[in-house]
Amino acid sequence: MIRSRIISTGSYLPPRVLTNSDLEKMVDTSDEWIISRSGIRERRIVEKDVATSDLGAEAARRALEMAGLKAGDLDLIITGTNSPDMFFPCTGCFIQAKIGAKKAAAFDVSAGCTSFIHALSLADKFIKEDPSRKVMVLGAEIMSKVTDWTDRATCVLFGDGAGAIILVGEEGERGVLSTHLHSDGSLWELLYIPGGGSANPSSPETVKQRMHYIKMAGNQLFKVAVRALAEVSQEAMEHNGLKSADIEVMIPHQANTRIIEAAAKLINFPMEKVYLNIDKYGNTSSATIPIALDEIHREGVLKAGSLILLCSFGTGVTWGGAVIRW
Ligand code: ACO
Repeated sequence: MIRSRIISTGSYLPPRVLTNSDLEKMVDTSDEWIISRSGIRERRIVEKDVATSDLGAEAARRALEMAGLKAGDLDLIITGTNSPDMFFPCTGCFIQAKIGAKKAAAFDVSAGCTSFIHALSLADKFIKEDPSRKVMVLGAEIMSKVTDWTDRATCVLFGDGAGAIILVGEEGERGVLSTHLHSDGSLWELLYIPGGGSANPSSPETVKQRMHYIKMAGNQLFKVAVRALAEVSQEAMEHNGLKSADIEVMIPHQANTRIIEAAAKLINFPMEKVYLNIDKYGNTSSATIPIALDEIHREGVLKAGSLILLCSFGTGVTWGGAVIRW
């Protein structure tokens, strides 16, 4: 059977660190509140002149280097992002141009923080259709530019970063075993940016009303997120006839340590096998999973055959999961 195998990973985090004590000087918050409510200690923030595709392109170069491939070898680039460079063209086209992936088709996927899993799911289908394809999947975000830095309920949570993986078609048991995607659009008001689109086009009024920044009902989203992560993790394991004991590592979307702990508890998944890096980077939206995957890969933790469970939720509301045999 042909499977889509991940042959390399790459990530890029901008060098500037914004700590919780820096935030204490900007809004009415405390290091203690942020750590205890979210698990976040610091996050990375880009400089003014950096765009999402700059982060994506650097993560892409690192993944190409690890794979020993040239950008020109890529057939397809699928980018998950919620903070694109521009309304259009898509951020994937900017990444394609920046790395010089001349023959690759490029497009973006927008499904909230779950975008990376949606992009992975698509890549898997493209590879099954033509196993000779080399496909890059990215999650790239600059959340700091859509964050309201006067809103303490959201500005403490997000960060910037990008991660990339390269997949190829291969006969055998290693690779993506399954992906599972869900949405409930009736819950859109839990997390959204109201201004700038066709519903509320940009105007002096939308700027005045701060409508170009994230609006979030954190408490309600928290409950939805716990259930979604737990259910999709269970679904992904059951689909493959697996139990938590079979999984080497779970890589959840890094939005809040308490959400992850509560979801793991619901399905009796041991926290020792859950990968967390939210303390260092905060919520980088669709980039959290590929960044974590790159870190864990470079740490040498993953062995051939290791089973990895990915799970995520995000604005939409969307949620999704995947099982990968490394
Ligand atoms: N510092 C200090 N106090 C704060 C802060 C802050 N930064 N933010 C909120 N508070 C206050 C509130 O005003 C409230 O005060 P009150 O009781 O006097 O009204 C109190 O803290 C408790 O607020 P809650 O919102 O109930 O706190 P909660 O325990 O729910 O934690 C949090 C808030 C961290 C936002 C949590 O709800 C959460 O993580 N929700 C999910 C958010 C999320 O994951 N978003 C991303 C989705 S993924 C994507 O697609 C981008």
